[in-house]
Amino acid sequence: PEVRLWGGRFAHGPAEALEKLSASVHFDWRLAPYDIEGSRAHARVLHRAGLLTADELDRMLAGLDRLAADVEDGSFTGTIADEDVHSALERGLLERVGPDLGGKLRAGRSRNDQVATLFRMYLRDHARIIGGLVADLQEALIGLADAHPGVAMPGRTHFQHAQPVLFAHHVLAHVQALSRDAERLRQWDARTAVSPYGSGALAGSSLGLDPEAVARDLGFEGGSSANSIDGTAARDFVAEFAFITAMIGVDVSRIAEEIIVWNTKEFSFVTLHDAFSTGSSIMPQKKNPDIAELARGKSGRLIGNLTGLLATLKALPLAYNRDLQEDKEPVFDSCDQLEILLPAFTGMLATLTVNGERMAELAPAGFSLATDIAEWLVKRGVPFRVAHEVAGECVKVCEAEGIDLDQLTDEQFAKISPHLTPEVRTVLTVEGALAARDARGGTAPAAVAVQLRDAKGDLDRQ
Ligand code: ARG
Repeated sequence: PEVRLWGGRFAHGPAEALEKLSASVHFDWRLAPYDIEGSRAHARVLHRAGLLTADELDRMLAGLDRLAADVEDGSFTGTIADEDVHSALERGLLERVGPDLGGKLRAGRSRNDQVATLFRMYLRDHARIIGGLVADLQEALIGLADAHPGVAMPGRTHFQHAQPVLFAHHVLAHVQALSRDAERLRQWDARTAVSPYGSGALAGSSLGLDPEAVARDLGFEGGSSANSIDGTAARDFVAEFAFITAMIGVDVSRIAEEIIVWNTKEFSFVTLHDAFSTGSSIMPQKKNPDIAELARGKSGRLIGNLTGLLATLKALPLAYNRDLQEDKEPVFDSCDQLEILLPAFTGMLATLTVNGERMAELAPAGFSLATDIAEWLVKRGVPFRVAHEVAGECVKVCEAEGIDLDQLTDEQFAKISPHLTPEVRTVLTVEGALAARDARGGTAPAAVAVQLRDAKGDLDRQ
């Protein structure tokens, strides 16, 4: 390999084994457009510092444009001998504008500040893409809530029937989680909008370059790094991005698990559209929720990307260490996985059929209205401790007789407690139980309508 960035003091070229180990060009090539954008900004700042004439700047920018076009159409690619995307593109520039001019661009910058800057640019773009896909998912969930406003279902804790809730209420809970994830992406973006360009290898540059001008040029609203050592060594922006994408994966996996359960014969709460489910190669009757299962599986992978990255960063001394080359593949993978998962997952949700009758039928099962008896007693002045006992006694009698709470006779109620007059029956319906929970955030149809309206508003502003 002829072109080496560090040829001067070496008597030997690199061993093949080193070259193989060292190469990152096969995975960091996706940074190429950002690298060229960074080079344009760097050429301009060199010109402003009097280190490139106006004519040299024009020829340099024209060469970078040709290089960008050749990268885009695939006629120029990096090779393993280039090691990484940065040196490959330097070679490409030298080939296009000649070594005398091309050799001037590296002044005042290092691959250390370059890669730290480009990586931020790349992740910021993908944070926006992923944010858009999360919004699409929120929209599909809001659509489900909107289409089934009055449907009751069994609300669960410990996966046991707990209290009836509206299906829309349940679905909107997932929307809340996703909207916090979207907010995390926006807050991360504001923190990540700081450009390390100008940090050089670690100590900054003696060439009179203006890092703030480069930051503005590259769209970093937060300006340039306040500390060049931190600029080149910090990777918390990568770890935080890995956390947010893992959190999105985990939040999606919680929806996925419910879809898998709801889609079973036993539940029969939802039916998946043929276009978003798969068959079995041996069992002709099968229709499988593979998208939801893959979502569940990929969340594990996203968590792995986060933990692997944190392990790489742990105890790394300042400033740049080559270990940091391991920072890219995990989060590139997190981007790739979410960008293929989310559209499929959203499609699955947007097209599934909800079996509202089945949900409503099961809503009161499992004595899920027992709390309503207790709260009805409290409203009549009975201490909750006593009310809880009395309602529990009702459940006990029902269980012994194999009946539901509303099938207890007036005499049975009276025998359990003199407080249990026949009026208690008014709360022993799902509709009554739902309507009673009308405070902010509750499951009453009116309260859920407010949540739905607010969720739509939040999404519009997102
Ligand atoms: N490929 C390297 C990385 O991803 C770029 C920085 C290399 N810097 C160096 N001094 N070897 O981290």
